[in-house]
Amino acid sequence: MYDNNPTLSGLKNIDESKQGQILFKEQWEESGGSRDKKFYIESYGCQMNFSDSEIVASILAEVGFAPTRDVETSDLILINTCSIREKAEETVRKRLRVFNIIKQNRPGTKIGILGCMAERLKKQWLEQEKLVDLVVGPDAYRDLPKLIGAAEDGHRMVNVLLSREETYADINPVRLESNGVTAFISIMRGCDNMCSFCVVPFTRGRERSRDPFSVVAEADNLFQNGYREVTLLGQNVDSYKWKNPETDQQVDFADLLEMVAQLNPLLRVRFSTSHPKDMTDKVLHTMARYHNICKYIHLPVQSGNSRVLELMNRTYDRPWYEQRIAAIRQILPEAAVSSDIIAGFCSETEQEHQDTLSIMEWANFSMSYMFYYSERPGTLAARKYPDDIPEDVKKRRLNEIIRLQTAISLQHNQADIGKTFEVLIERDSRKSDQDFCGRNSQNKMVVFPKKAGLKPGDYVQVEIHDATSATLLGRIQS
Ligand code: SAH
Ligand code: SF4
Ligand code: F3S
Repeated sequence: MYDNNPTLSGLKNIDESKQGQILFKEQWEESGGSRDKKFYIESYGCQMNFSDSEIVASILAEVGFAPTRDVETSDLILINTCSIREKAEETVRKRLRVFNIIKQNRPGTKIGILGCMAERLKKQWLEQEKLVDLVVGPDAYRDLPKLIGAAEDGHRMVNVLLSREETYADINPVRLESNGVTAFISIMRGCDNMCSFCVVPFTRGRERSRDPFSVVAEADNLFQNGYREVTLLGQNVDSYKWKNPETDQQVDFADLLEMVAQLNPLLRVRFSTSHPKDMTDKVLHTMARYHNICKYIHLPVQSGNSRVLELMNRTYDRPWYEQRIAAIRQILPEAAVSSDIIAGFCSETEQEHQDTLSIMEWANFSMSYMFYYSERPGTLAARKYPDDIPEDVKKRRLNEIIRLQTAISLQHNQADIGKTFEVLIERDSRKSDQDFCGRNSQNKMVVFPKKAGLKPGDYVQVEIHDATSATLLGRIQS
């Protein structure tokens, strides 16, 4: 029944193959879950949503729900949804129809919508189309047990209230579909920027930062359990800010990075996403001081043209972005930088599109997540600017951007041939169980033949002998 091929376009750092993945934890009993009832969850969108599904799993464990991969026998079907582009929403709609057919054979089963579409579609799905029993927004997951209980009594339930405080700091996420080596940690929620194209401030509410000591404790716990890499997550990590209510001491993102990096030199630290307007030299210097802070920055440019950037309300212009890249090159010469790019934003001219192509070359992005503009109801752009670039032009511009990025990535990777990198082994390579794969500090995937005695979670030195636009191929150095 479940086709593992949702057609969502890639969102930051969650590759397409993982979109819609079923989340499951093998060692469920270890987490103390009983097997009274089963839930099935599919996640869409960005890392934040995948990380939230692990919080949901933890909350559901408390009330006796175990995860299952088998949607047909589950008591509760959840979809953690994304609203970022229209296509993301269409995919969820299709899945909802499939789940409602399953429900016809199992009338006791409840269907719930979580995440970023909750607020926007609650009326339509809950009240008009009656496609779902539960609608729960990203800040209301603690309410799930109560809402599920009421749904079991035959009510249709909704809680989409956004909070100014909720960070789920005290909830220990159940790691789902994990490789046991790498994990995400949310350090903040929401977003206070108002990029004119973006729906996130509306779906996730105001920005708030999580207590740094709870972040460090979660990272430490992961390390004690064999994990060797954590990725600190936020829509704009550089605006992380926490004030100790007792001492008034301030902790900014550079301080937090340092606190996590100091846990153990064998624990790698990554983070996403950096915002060009907020990324400070202090963060770059902190990265330079710690070998275990990975030399990789995801710094979405969105457009290479200052007029378009202003319409997008990104609050930086092209020279500012170039100066941020120059600072990275100076302070962290070995760092790789990647980007998000939007093609065909409102009123973008051919010349302005050319500016995007030229900044991609200038910045030498190791990779990019690339999209064409999709108008989202309620956003600043939807209210102020006509979505006036024809779809065929948007698609053509996007194709030019993708073609250029593929060429730049290939060159970027070919420049690594002959170099030796420290690689953290993550798992078997997808193509062959004779090969391992893992990332180098620059976040490039490296594939290499296995060697006896090594396992996921080990660090190895790998010499690169070949490259494609997506992968480095190498050999372990003896
Ligand atoms: N907080 C991150 C981005 C989160 S959304 C940042 O500011 O960089 C991930 C990416 O989706 C964005 O960077 C943008 O490139 C893309 N995106 C967001 N809204 C979009 C829209 N309406 N149409 C097309 N792409 C969009
Ligand atoms: Fe959206 Fe901009 Fe916030 Fe990123 S920084 S989540 S693009 S509003
Ligand atoms: Fe993420 Fe999509 Fe929401 S990108 S924050 S899940 S709208």
